[in-house]
Amino acid sequence: MPRSFIYVGLILLLCLLVPPAVIARVRATPNPNPPIHLIQDMDFQSKFKTQAVNPLFADRRTMRPPVENAVARGETYVDALLYEGVSNGGWATALPPQVPLTLATLKRGQERYNIYCSVCHGETGNGDGLVNEKAMELVANTNGPVNGTVWVQAKNLVHDETVTVQPVGQVFSTITHGIRNMAGYGSQIPVEDRWAIAAYVKTLQRSQNARPSDVPAGTTLAEAK
Ligand code: HEC
Repeated sequence: MPRSFIYVGLILLLCLLVPPAVIARVRATPNPNPPIHLIQDMDFQSKFKTQAVNPLFADRRTMRPPVENAVARGETYVDALLYEGVSNGGWATALPPQVPLTLATLKRGQERYNIYCSVCHGETGNGDGLVNEKAMELVANTNGPVNGTVWVQAKNLVHDETVTVQPVGQVFSTITHGIRNMAGYGSQIPVEDRWAIAAYVKTLQRSQNARPSDVPAGTTLAEAK
């Protein structure tokens, strides 16, 4: 075999190293252009992006307003008793049929009340929750409120007569929409739980406002204890 064959062969072998070297270099170098896309599949197709101008509609917007009077599934809220606590034009005095007055409901209400309300109103409803106590302390500071703290005393839910006379539907409404300085919990607490809490608030009131008539007639003080 002539020697030149060997040299040519060697050179060809060396040339084989060029493509991998080029690939390695390209892979290691950042490039602002998108990669070459040989098979398009459906990756690129004409469409309107949300905020883009759209000549198909008179107002030239791509995003369409909801159809007038359309109601999303599960968002009818026409049940005034369930969603607003109103029945026969006044505050409901009983729970809606969807939330039966059972021990389970009250227990659920107690649990939710302790989570959401007790920080301000206290576990017994006396308006002495920890957050409330701390805030009152900051406000009562002798050199003026600490860091300009502003706080309205949380209502005593069980002894304040403006609250104890309220029907359960009104309490439900306060939880849902809030009142004056108290924020509403309609968006955080599901509707059934709001009713359970309202029922539990009535339970707290009842338990702390016992009347002599609650004791069976003829029971002596010693027996009652
Ligand atoms: C961040 C503190 C805070 C939390 C938490 C809170 N409240 Fe209140 N609540 C207040 C304050 C403050 C008031 C008095 C508002 C006012 O008079 O401006 C009030 C008032 C009320 C009233 C009386 C409304 C009236 O007609 O005067 C009820 C009932 C009530 N809250 C129930 C609840 C229930 C139930 C929860 C739990 C879902 C709750 N609150 C959670 C601070 C709170």
